[in-house]
Amino acid sequence: MKKILFVAFVLLTVGFLFGAKYIVGVSADFPPFESVENGEFVGFDIDLIKAIGEEMGFEVEIRDMSFDSLIAALVSGNLDIVISGMTITQERAEVVSFSKPYWTADQSVVVREDSDFNVTVLFGKRNVGVQTGTTGDLWVEENLVETKILTGDFKRYDTYVLAMTDLINKNIDAIVLDAPVAEGFAKVRPVKVVAILKTYEDYGIAVNKGNKTLLALINEGIERLEASGKLDELNLKHF
Ligand code: ARG
Repeated sequence: MKKILFVAFVLLTVGFLFGAKYIVGVSADFPPFESVENGEFVGFDIDLIKAIGEEMGFEVEIRDMSFDSLIAALVSGNLDIVISGMTITQERAEVVSFSKPYWTADQSVVVREDSDFNVTVLFGKRNVGVQTGTTGDLWVEENLVETKILTGDFKRYDTYVLAMTDLINKNIDAIVLDAPVAEGFAKVRPVKVVAILKTYEDYGIAVNKGNKTLLALINEGIERLEASGKLDELNLKHF
């Protein structure tokens, strides 16, 4: 019995000294927040969660999955944290807990660079793409599909990378996605942003609803990074 207690004590101490490791889920198709470059995860969100970990004494392991499976993976315990340019919405906040907001963004409309389309590309018999389960998906569904303003194809993609390829290949005419990311894509692919849809979204880091301790650690981490100027530094590095 004594031996078991001793071993438990040692394990706890080691765990404490070396910090915990948390599994962090991302959908790595969202530059400059999260993407894969030369086989490595890079971006603002990746740096942010690592910096919070360094500040608060935990390590992170990044896992890439489709955006619409992130929340389910958090709820089932396969992930500890989700950071993925995820908008804090009422529906999501019913199933997971969000940190304080760390970013604000609007939606936008992206078309091929060589096209004459403007915002009216969303009206009538056009084909519009979104990433499954995003706020862009919901926006198009509620404002354009249900109202029958958009009568062409409404296509949902697992990743924005696939959606961009389909746009460039002329399989769709426009994509609705978060403005900072649209501008990011516009720098590296032959696409352009033709409209901003003011949706006033806040991004938050999500954890399992039961995990109050981890949420407190993350919020404290964000506050410290704000105070130290490290958050501004990350901002400058990525935007
Ligand atoms: N902000 C939007 C949302 O929460 C899009 C996020 C997509 N993120 C990503 N990494 N693909 O629905």
